[in-house]
Amino acid sequence: MPEWQDAVEVIITKRDKGALSDEQIDWVVDAYTRGVVADEQMSALAMAILLNGMDRREISRWTAAMISSGTRMDFTSLSRPTADKHSTGGVGDKITLPLVPLVAACGVAVPQLSGRGLGHTGGTLDKLESIPGWRADLSYDEMMSQLESVGAVICAAGSTLAPADKKLYALRDVTGTVEAIALIASSIMSKKIAEGTGALVLDVKVGSGAFMKNVDDARELAQTMVNLGRDAGVTTVALLTGMATPLGLTAGNALEVRESLDVLAGGGPADVVKLTLALAREMLSAAGREDHDPADRLADGSAMDVWRHMIAAQGGDVDADLPVARETHEVAAPISGGITRLDALAVGMAAWRLGAGRARKEDPVQAGAGVVLHAKPGDSVRAGEPLMTLHSDDGHRLDRAEESLEGAFDIAAEGSGTHFEDELILARLT
Ligand code: URA
Repeated sequence: MPEWQDAVEVIITKRDKGALSDEQIDWVVDAYTRGVVADEQMSALAMAILLNGMDRREISRWTAAMISSGTRMDFTSLSRPTADKHSTGGVGDKITLPLVPLVAACGVAVPQLSGRGLGHTGGTLDKLESIPGWRADLSYDEMMSQLESVGAVICAAGSTLAPADKKLYALRDVTGTVEAIALIASSIMSKKIAEGTGALVLDVKVGSGAFMKNVDDARELAQTMVNLGRDAGVTTVALLTGMATPLGLTAGNALEVRESLDVLAGGGPADVVKLTLALAREMLSAAGREDHDPADRLADGSAMDVWRHMIAAQGGDVDADLPVARETHEVAAPISGGITRLDALAVGMAAWRLGAGRARKEDPVQAGAGVVLHAKPGDSVRAGEPLMTLHSDDGHRLDRAEESLEGAFDIAAEGSGTHFEDELILARLT
């Protein structure tokens, strides 16, 4: 039988709400990666999966098939345990930057393979590339040797890591099939399991600035990913964390690096510090190293020391000034009162329009562009005082960014909202 007929049979099984067999899954993922299953066939199958779902066995097998499409890394020869973190992405989410050196300073190696940002959420590599000289592309040998000597690596995922996912994710992006929980979970977990970490902590974001807008969907995604990790022998824990409000006081590449440095120096906004410490404790516990308190490693400067070694090992000039945008514009509070809401999506869109993010994956980003917040929910402001400052190299972007902030915040004449750090961590799933 020609292979294209097999693809039709697989599509019909899922269209008619059947469960795909292990053989069907192995074959369709492999044949799609080889170009035997056509894009239009995989589009139909992805839509059938979005509409009819997959059960736990199917998702686990689908994930394994995507891992098998490429190479699986192995860090068991390192002298210390490994742990990694994955965030589903949010506005101002720079947590990876202080977290990776912090966990390494506590004796657990962190092999963090990251991506570039698309749309309103920033990418970790874009943030680090604002540091002069820093390079994201490392060979396998460079990565291993840096993990052994420094204990911390943040770099780009190579093309051999789950290539089936790379192809399928690009297809889902243009066929309205990104939102299928089975496909999101298998996409994220195939890359994280193939990366070879011994333990994994997932930060699943909920709210306007996140992929998952409500707690029920976020919980289902988180539990599906935790189950996939466990089925693959990786100790996996998930935190559900709020993303209705931006994290910290900055959204934008160099601006977020600067804020991360504040955290590594023992300061920084309370919500960023709280989440960094919560995730660090989960990573240390999942890796069996609870003997260190990460708060001490921020206070005594050892996390900052690891940061400096990690950046320098990848060519970054740790003492160079970070880029600054050419133009700035202040958005003033229209009335006096307490801030009760500051919408994460609107701030993310503003940062994106200022040049911090990209619309297509080949677009450049501006290192200095973004938004600096001067007040957040729980704070009081006076009419005319700056609420936020917009930064961009192009003056014409400032007006369009300000437009996306219309209706983005509420100020109550009396009282104020809850401080974000008090409602940041919503649930823990194991
Ligand atoms: N991130 C991924 O890596 N995959 C998805 O499907 C969604 C977000």
